[in-house]
Amino acid sequence: MRPQLAASLACALLWAIPATAQTRIDVDLAAQTHTIAPEIYGQFLEHVGTQPYGGIWVGPDSDIPNTDGIRDDVFGALKTLDIPVIRWPGGCYADLYHWRDGIGPHDKRPVRVNMVWGGTEETNAFGSHEFFNLAERLGAKTYLNLNLGTGTPAEAADWLEYLTAEAGDRAAERSANGRETPYKVDFLSIGNETWGCGGALTAGAYADLYSQYASFAKTAGDQPVRILSGAHDGNPEYTDTLLGHPYIAGLTEGVSLHVYTLPTGEWSEKGAATGFPEAEWASTIKRTLRMEDVIADQRAIIARHEDLPDGFGLYVDEWGMWVDQDEAKNPPALYQEGTIRDAVVAGLNLNIFHRNADLVKMTNIAQMVNVLQAMILTDGPDMVLTPTYHVFEMYKPFMGAEALPVSYTSPDYTLGDVTVPAISLSAARTADGQLIVALVNADAKASHDVDLTAFDAKEAEGHLLTAKTMDARNTFADPEAVHSVPMTVKAKGKKLVLDLPPRSIAVVVLK
Ligand code: AHR
Repeated sequence: MRPQLAASLACALLWAIPATAQTRIDVDLAAQTHTIAPEIYGQFLEHVGTQPYGGIWVGPDSDIPNTDGIRDDVFGALKTLDIPVIRWPGGCYADLYHWRDGIGPHDKRPVRVNMVWGGTEETNAFGSHEFFNLAERLGAKTYLNLNLGTGTPAEAADWLEYLTAEAGDRAAERSANGRETPYKVDFLSIGNETWGCGGALTAGAYADLYSQYASFAKTAGDQPVRILSGAHDGNPEYTDTLLGHPYIAGLTEGVSLHVYTLPTGEWSEKGAATGFPEAEWASTIKRTLRMEDVIADQRAIIARHEDLPDGFGLYVDEWGMWVDQDEAKNPPALYQEGTIRDAVVAGLNLNIFHRNADLVKMTNIAQMVNVLQAMILTDGPDMVLTPTYHVFEMYKPFMGAEALPVSYTSPDYTLGDVTVPAISLSAARTADGQLIVALVNADAKASHDVDLTAFDAKEAEGHLLTAKTMDARNTFADPEAVHSVPMTVKAKGKKLVLDLPPRSIAVVVLK
């Protein structure tokens, strides 16, 4: 029997395992709250694989229905998510990107080679105007990653002037290229993963360079939020050294953090997207939950640097699932399937971000289309929404809501030597006073009851996303295989108990 079929049958049988224990919640509805920055729901658009070319940009002459070159189906799906901010053009690619390659008439733009992601052709058809116009149409803020690795402070300063100036030669050039009104740069990063692909710089060397770039990285009008490229989950001290630099406090409003979930934890063999054993489900959950500790470490480091400006934030500008590519299928760089496991990973991370809403000011899942834990996958004219897309859609009411401090007990989910809490949840109050709760059951096999009585409500109404196997996914042949369904649970007497099936995510409004 094929392993995947065996796994499916086993899971189908286990589907019926009943609720084992109950999660009890304690919530102080009068406690101080923190606003969940809408930007926690940010996206990341890097020039990798078929993300910009094919996934988003098809060009105005394409047979695929498009508006000014942006495919309409993908745009429509992204619009539904109310995307608050998009980071562009990388990632590692940002440190190879020269903005002048991506402006002006399309037939005059140089064709380059994407030397960091697979040596594919980079036509530069998707450049500054295409990105800023896309963000504007989506109603999303812009997060620009400047090129520190192979650029210069002058090139970076020129780009910002070109994009934002009201007058002068660069504004005239922008107008001649089709855009008279200045663009808005809301967030700015200088360099990316400077401890790695961004130049392999020590924290001290990067901090010196950052200070030089930041001194000249000015926009016309409002200044963007400036974000230092910080640590990953394995080198927290990098951030500490950066923040200890004598000039940094006056030149930055936040620091970034990159945390990926690799099922095995090994870069050389990360684990498969589908057909994986339950051990890799369990290790994925465990490795995802590390996010809480990684943020706690960064919180402690930031707190040590008392000279940082008020409101200094942590920007988790890359996170998500990263699995091995199926080389036999020769996929584009970083293309991977998205399953219900990814959806659970998304829910767990978003709950952690809500709980840390006082510090975490933005996050950017990696990435938006056709790359890593994508919202959307495309194949020629076809498009499919991943289970992660549905989580982002379900969690939308949390954008800008007030995070409520909630404590809760959870039954364990144990497999071999891995034991993790099965249930994760977060709660918030929306601007119009509604109480909303997001719940994840990360248990691969058992359903669990969650007692919501503490919220003093008569009914919980919302949506549930679940699937019958650990690697259930949407395919181009069956694009609706994993989708959310409406759910309503009514209180019995004073008790309001929600039964969460295994491998599920729910978002409910309490009434
Ligand atoms: O998201 C893919 C890559 O992961 C980014 O380019 C880089 O910053 C990180 O290593």
